[in-house]
Amino acid sequence: MKNFNFDNLEVPIIQAPMAGGFNTPELASSVANAGAVGSFGFSFTNAEKIAETLFITKKLTNGFLNANFFVFKPIELPNNTILLKAIEALNKLSFQETYELKIPQEPFYFSLEEQIEATIENSPSIITFHLGLPPISIVKKIKNKGIKVGITSTNLKEALLIEKSGADFTILQGFEAGGHRGIFDQEKYDEEVYLDNLIKIVKDNIKIPYVAAGGIMNGKDIKKVINLGAKAAQLGTAFLCCPEAGTSEIHKQYLLNEHKRKTKLTKAFSGRLARGIVNKYIQEMENKSILPFPAQNTLTTPLRRLSIKKNNGEFINLWAGKNFHKITSLNANDLVMKLKEELKD
Ligand SMILES: Cc1cc2nc3c(=O)[nH]c(=O)nc-3n(C[C@H](O)[C@H](O)[C@H](O)COP(=O)(O)O)c2cc1C
Repeated sequence: MKNFNFDNLEVPIIQAPMAGGFNTPELASSVANAGAVGSFGFSFTNAEKIAETLFITKKLTNGFLNANFFVFKPIELPNNTILLKAIEALNKLSFQETYELKIPQEPFYFSLEEQIEATIENSPSIITFHLGLPPISIVKKIKNKGIKVGITSTNLKEALLIEKSGADFTILQGFEAGGHRGIFDQEKYDEEVYLDNLIKIVKDNIKIPYVAAGGIMNGKDIKKVINLGAKAAQLGTAFLCCPEAGTSEIHKQYLLNEHKRKTKLTKAFSGRLARGIVNKYIQEMENKSILPFPAQNTLTTPLRRLSIKKNNGEFINLWAGKNFHKITSLNANDLVMKLKEELKD
């Protein structure tokens, strides 16, 4: 394994981990070979598949790889009344096709311990966590193997807890970021801080290094956060239209063409707030019953799969950050090279 530290990172970019099939061995290895960090969002992936994916990717690159996990909170099996209301909300959508619903069953998510075990065996350079603090025993176990640990924060309080947990760095995620909002507890008041301000609020109060994420699309954006003290920039949306990404064609079309649309945070796809391009699903699900995270994700999976199959972008999670209109469809190597060049200007 290649030992990671920010000083030996050739290009200060982390291609964001993106759970849900967006990250592929081809994408992560191209980014890593270009001198940045290639990542995998493994939250919905079982231990065996994680091991296989890392094994394949390590044959394609000797560069830095990052494996990422959501920190799920235990949930109760939804009672029948709640379940029926959530099903009714989906049945009332204007989606014309018929499909079979997948009723969520326990366990609602994979064991983090087992996922981490499979990950450590295939030694990526970095393991990061999103949506909360992992158990301290897991942080220690990873660090003992010489693997660096990073955890997302969206406010100062979370950044301080991360520092205390022994993590090596935090990923400061601004409000403009695409995908799931990393806030630890979505039921608590959200300060909704945008990236620049978040960095300014946090920077003098923590000693661990920080990475900046949210709305970063070009070299100018990266330079700005580096000048604010970030060790690297984490870009998600910017990589979604790379040919190596697992993004569906219809999602790519919306990212490349639907620039008049806004993005919005919604719980309707997974049960947890995530930012995507506004479509019929988001609009029609407003104020409707949904299941807790991630049971809602399981419930909506067949609908989203069929919508993709029918090339219908109105009933899928079109995850995107607020600056998605700046996206390009360059391949991963060319994108990293372009960003590297722009950083020099
Ligand atoms: C499609 C998509 C999926 C994402 N999935 C994850 C994930 O699994 N784990 C994670 O830590 N962050 C995830 N994120 C958030 C990114 O880590 C990062 O905060 C975000 O992409 C930054 O904003 P940007 O998309 O404007 O670059 C995801 C983002 C996107 C766009």
